[in-house]
Amino acid sequence: MTKKAWGGRFQGEAIEWVDEFNASIHFDNALIEMDVAGSIAHATMLAKQAIITDEEKDEITDGLKAVLHDYKEGNLEFSVSREDIHMNIEHALIEKIGETGGKLHTARSRNDQVATDMHLYVKGRVQEIIESIELMQKTIIGLAKDNMHVIMPGYTHLQRAQPVLFSHHIMVYFWMLKRDKERFQDSLKRIDISPLGAGAISGTTFDIDREETKQLLGFSDLYQNSMDAVSDRDYIIETLSNISLVMVHLSRLSEEIIFWMTEEANFIQLSDQFTTGSSMMPQKKNPDMAELIRGKSARTTGALTSMLMLLKGLPLTYNKDMQEDKEGLFDAITTVTGSLKIMNGMLETMELNEDVLEKSVEEDFSNATELADYLVQKGVPFRNAHEVVGRVVLKCINEQKYLKDLSLEEFKTEHTAIEEDIYEVLTPKVMVDRRNSAGGTGTEAVEEQIKIAEASLMN
Ligand code: ARG
Repeated sequence: MTKKAWGGRFQGEAIEWVDEFNASIHFDNALIEMDVAGSIAHATMLAKQAIITDEEKDEITDGLKAVLHDYKEGNLEFSVSREDIHMNIEHALIEKIGETGGKLHTARSRNDQVATDMHLYVKGRVQEIIESIELMQKTIIGLAKDNMHVIMPGYTHLQRAQPVLFSHHIMVYFWMLKRDKERFQDSLKRIDISPLGAGAISGTTFDIDREETKQLLGFSDLYQNSMDAVSDRDYIIETLSNISLVMVHLSRLSEEIIFWMTEEANFIQLSDQFTTGSSMMPQKKNPDMAELIRGKSARTTGALTSMLMLLKGLPLTYNKDMQEDKEGLFDAITTVTGSLKIMNGMLETMELNEDVLEKSVEEDFSNATELADYLVQKGVPFRNAHEVVGRVVLKCINEQKYLKDLSLEEFKTEHTAIEEDIYEVLTPKVMVDRRNSAGGTGTEAVEEQIKIAEASLMN
């Protein structure tokens, strides 16, 4: 049986399957780089404060680098009986450099150590997520610019409402992602804080310099309360919440892509690379990637819920429950970065079925508001106009026609104010382009919108 690092007070033999349950090494090995960086900063500070000698610091630093190197080369085995990444590394260090390795943990606890590792980890991953979001924002702008001429049905209640530019529709996701990115950016000021030096709970009797380790590790701020430093997992909840929201946005877009790709809508085609076939039905081309993103959004929301539940009843300060903060977070980070990458590829290679989209807006009643507005411009009160148009639509439905198929006489029987110019007013292109109010779907307004969007990426 391995001797425990905390073994002094214990007499009974450890049981392997209890160790197994207690251990986090299967997943917190993901923290190895952060753990080594944190330890090197800590040793450097200890030497500067003359708590250890410079030679000891050099030995420890070189030893830690060698341990990391061994791990990367596949020459370091971790053991469950050493519980977690912190104790496995400390053990490997002592194996490598001897007793001096045992001085590294002076004025430090695993409680501030794990908190430091996690802060460094989350900070790095959040920065990567921000970059992936930006990449997708650029893809969306490209898609919007390339397809400015395409008009599609806009929906409310999944019923045809009014025609819109495809570019206007897809740009919605640009703005969602912009807010997502800003949330991540804002969260960094709560993530980028150093807990190192908090000790187990109350600080330390050694004359440490927390400012020094903060700077060495590139943190912008310090926890001002040692108990808070080892208990805070807010930033993990916040990150999971931000991730969940991106995933919900990607899930909504996935749902639209799935609908657009149905034979019923047939608005788009996804490239073969982002679809799969059926093992039985040879004709099938399934939007599996979009469905998976929609499905995976459930996982990230699950991780957020778990973390909220994990923390809600925990007294101060560290409790082992907190070890459960990692797997859900790691999984959520892999999920969101993977989903952003896949969605980006899917959008880059997606093609619009322009003829289908064009026909779809010609043959529906999404120009009914136009007729009502037309009457209003001729002096008819909107409520009356709404009533008249409702009747016209009903007549068309009964006669299996669209508004554009009615003769001028037929229009005139419904309302005398209607003139020949109504036919132009009812065309999708004119309809769309008349909506140039700021933020509207008119070509000019959308061009302006894209300009503002592009400028926001420059900041
Ligand atoms: N593996 C532990 C975790 O992830 C590290 C901290 C352990 N601290 C302790 N006092 N048992 O939370």
